[in-house]
Amino acid sequence: MEPADSARSAGVVAIFDRVADTYDNVGVPWFAPIAEGLVRELAPRPGERALDVGCGRGAALFPLAEAVGPTGSVTGVDLAPRMVAAARAEVARRGLAQVDVRLMDAAAPDLPAAGYDLVASSLVVFFLPDPAAALRAWRELLVPGGRLGIATFGDQDPRWQQLDAFFRPYLPPHLLDARTSGAAGPFASDAGVEELLTAAGYTRVRTAALDVEAVFTDPEHWHAFSLSHGQRAMWEAVPERERATLRATMTGFAEGLRGDDGTIRLTQRMRYTLAERPA
Ligand SMILES: C[S@@+](CC[C@H](N)C(=O)[O-])C[C@H]1O[C@@H](n2cnc3c(N)ncnc32)[C@H](O)[C@@H]1O
Repeated sequence: MEPADSARSAGVVAIFDRVADTYDNVGVPWFAPIAEGLVRELAPRPGERALDVGCGRGAALFPLAEAVGPTGSVTGVDLAPRMVAAARAEVARRGLAQVDVRLMDAAAPDLPAAGYDLVASSLVVFFLPDPAAALRAWRELLVPGGRLGIATFGDQDPRWQQLDAFFRPYLPPHLLDARTSGAAGPFASDAGVEELLTAAGYTRVRTAALDVEAVFTDPEHWHAFSLSHGQRAMWEAVPERERATLRATMTGFAEGLRGDDGTIRLTQRMRYTLAERPA
């Protein structure tokens, strides 16, 4: 890996390490419903062997474990030690003997070739320095005919885009990725992601979608949410002396997004790209 890529990966992982305690834990069901949608599309069967790449705290891991049951197995890998620790603690709390979580780079997984019936990866692939190379490596982990499903961001509520646009002047190019500079990249369209998978040697490539709504009780709730996941990197890109002003501007804008019941409801379309390793 190039030094710049390795530094970027380390930065991504460090952010997820810092948010591990609050991740998907601020009263906004978000990563769980997104990952549940992905798992539904993959339709795991009892007894199958599943791999969750970039498992985080387990948004896809646990629905996968439930679907494959005690006769199946689920391996989760993530490079953020505190995410791995949180996922392992939850595995232990639930007493899931068939689930195993490992600290590992998604870009170079040290796992058995043809060892899995399905690979899931929810909101991870666009963080990787070379998504195409990672997708090729994951293909080798699947049995012939095995299924891959990845979740990425589709269209975003224009009001949410307007809110996030306040960060834009502060963001380095790599933070413009998944939703913004992605306009020129593979993650900007269904066809772009489908082509990425086809070029990585997958077959039967298709796209499904799910609209997920985030409900915030008030602008401060949105602010807490924005700090609880990868978007924290955007706050950290803003010089400290400017953060309070930006926060006031953004929460003021968010005030105007309240609906009749006082909540702020913003929608994000999730893109699920499904494919198979050729038989
Ligand atoms: C947006 S979170 C998604 C986590 C989980 N899949 C979910 O849906 O909640 C992205 C995850 O990718 C992990 N990640 C980023 N780069 C990685 C890499 N190179 N190898 C493994 N995991 C990585 C982060 O640590 C983080 O847990």
